[in-house]
Amino acid sequence: MSAQPVLSVVASAAGGVQGLRVGLVEPALAAGWRVTVTLTPTAARWLTDLGEVDRLALATGLPVRWDSRLPTEPRPHPDPDVAVLAPASANTVAKLALGIAENQALTQLCEAVGNPAVPVVVLPRTNAFQARHPAWNGHLATLRSAGVHLVDARPGADGALPWPAVLDSVSRAARA
Ligand SMILES: Cc1cc2nc3c(=O)[nH]c(=O)nc-3n(C[C@H](O)[C@H](O)[C@H](O)COP(=O)(O)O)c2cc1C
Repeated sequence: MSAQPVLSVVASAAGGVQGLRVGLVEPALAAGWRVTVTLTPTAARWLTDLGEVDRLALATGLPVRWDSRLPTEPRPHPDPDVAVLAPASANTVAKLALGIAENQALTQLCEAVGNPAVPVVVLPRTNAFQARHPAWNGHLATLRSAGVHLVDARPGADGALPWPAVLDSVSRAARA
């Protein structure tokens, strides 16, 4: 792992994503990580509307990604030492389990899942109906069998995501 390890934070359009900066990105920066942020297109729309994309770029000192680069453009982010998907929508979990890399967030995550040098942490965030879809448990089992660290923690009563459990899981994955 590099002197200042790089944490790739990826977020999809699920409840609680609006707390990404305060709940995960700023605590990870404070813990010594260099942090990159990549969003699904829908999460980018939500966070742009809230002014959070600009704040995330300011906090990390790097552009927030949601589009693919041109082949002639340099990579805007350093390569990750650890990747975390939080929150993970049912949609993005399903595509990740199937290896569907149809946007920048999934492109990075699918590569990380296939790279034994990059631990991947995922915080699923679904409602009860999404979790009862017949394919759901199979998607989780696929990711688990690939070595993905699934964070099994519930949102708080105020709806805030269990960000401390996510960062704990990232730290443990980095040490493993
Ligand atoms: C207000 C709102 C809250 C949502 N919360 C969730 C959620 O917690 N989990 C989830 O899987 N989908 C949720 N959705 C649906 C996803 O945003 C939708 O499936 C979207 O296509 C996911 O796109 P992405 O996975 O590319 O980010 C929500 C939608 C809205 C409008």
